[in-house]
Amino acid sequence: MPAPAPTLILAPMRGITTMFYRQAFVRHFQGLDVEMAPFISTVGADQINPKLLKDVLPENNTGLPLIPQVIGNNADDFVRMNSALADLGYDEVNWNMGCPHKPIRKKRRGSGLLPYPDTVDAILDQVCARSPVKISVKVRLGVADKSELMALIPVLNRYPLTEVIVHPRTAEQMYDGTVDLDAFEEAFNALEPTVCYNGDINDRALFQNVETRFPTVQRFMLGRGLLANPFLCEEIKRGISHLARCEKHIERVAAFHDDLVAEYEAVLHGDHPVLGKMKEFWTYQTTHLSNGRKMFKKLKKSQRLSTYKDIVAEFLADAEWTP
Ligand SMILES: Cc1cc2nc3c(=O)[nH]c(=O)nc-3n(C[C@H](O)[C@H](O)[C@H](O)COP(=O)(O)O)c2cc1C
Repeated sequence: MPAPAPTLILAPMRGITTMFYRQAFVRHFQGLDVEMAPFISTVGADQINPKLLKDVLPENNTGLPLIPQVIGNNADDFVRMNSALADLGYDEVNWNMGCPHKPIRKKRRGSGLLPYPDTVDAILDQVCARSPVKISVKVRLGVADKSELMALIPVLNRYPLTEVIVHPRTAEQMYDGTVDLDAFEEAFNALEPTVCYNGDINDRALFQNVETRFPTVQRFMLGRGLLANPFLCEEIKRGISHLARCEKHIERVAAFHDDLVAEYEAVLHGDHPVLGKMKEFWTYQTTHLSNGRKMFKKLKKSQRLSTYKDIVAEFLADAEWTP
């Protein structure tokens, strides 16, 4: 029997993988199976409103299964948010215990919870018992010390979590250095729920490396690598290291870009917010363009949308896709 196809999940990236990005992405690229939305903070009951939930309103979804994500450390607020998400039709919510940013960590949110198994236990106890949705969690190895996740695993194993997504870096590493596959292996062996691998899958060779080392892992979350190479899921699913030249990479990236910029122009007011979004988009999307560095340098300086569009058109006309 052939091995089952891996499940490829779009990583949540706050500010970038918005509903607009997700919608445009699936109109232009294949191979993705599931999306996770960037985190929503838990808030008091009176603050749960349609604006807060806009990014995950079903009418804004792409057709792929979407898992909303929540960040917070107050069980009552978390349960209320889960109920609001259940009302929208969701049956699973992911709890962010991976966000490495210091201000969040200091408030014992995101990865800041990793060194506190008793707090996590108390929250999961309430949230799993009282929520109308299933819970999954996204974690790192620890804040500074990678033994923190190992100490937390007996707690995670006590709850019926649908999956544990492991990004094998510490929070202090942020996104620097390399992922620690030995630490991932240790966590994977100790975890009872389904485990999803996340981190540095930037090309098919890296994906294969993880797949070969962990043949029973079937769920993979892709972030920056997929944003840089939106063909990556197609390459992984088709079993090729990069799509052939004739597959019109530049034309497809250009069409994706035009679609996305039009979406942002329709909802954001003025050139600046649109430029902000698009400059962030190109932080990743220029990686595989032969003239990407120059292009990024130039478009970063643009102050008007019309100038920006001219720069994009000019550079894409000359660009080649570099795998
Ligand atoms: C700009 C940015 C925003 C992110 N936002 C979130 C988020 O909202 N929720 C989350 O769980 N992870 C977030 N992450 C982490 C990614 O989901 C992912 O775990 C990380 O980038 C590692 O995967 P990668 O190497 O495939 O990019 C963010 C990362 C970046 C760079």
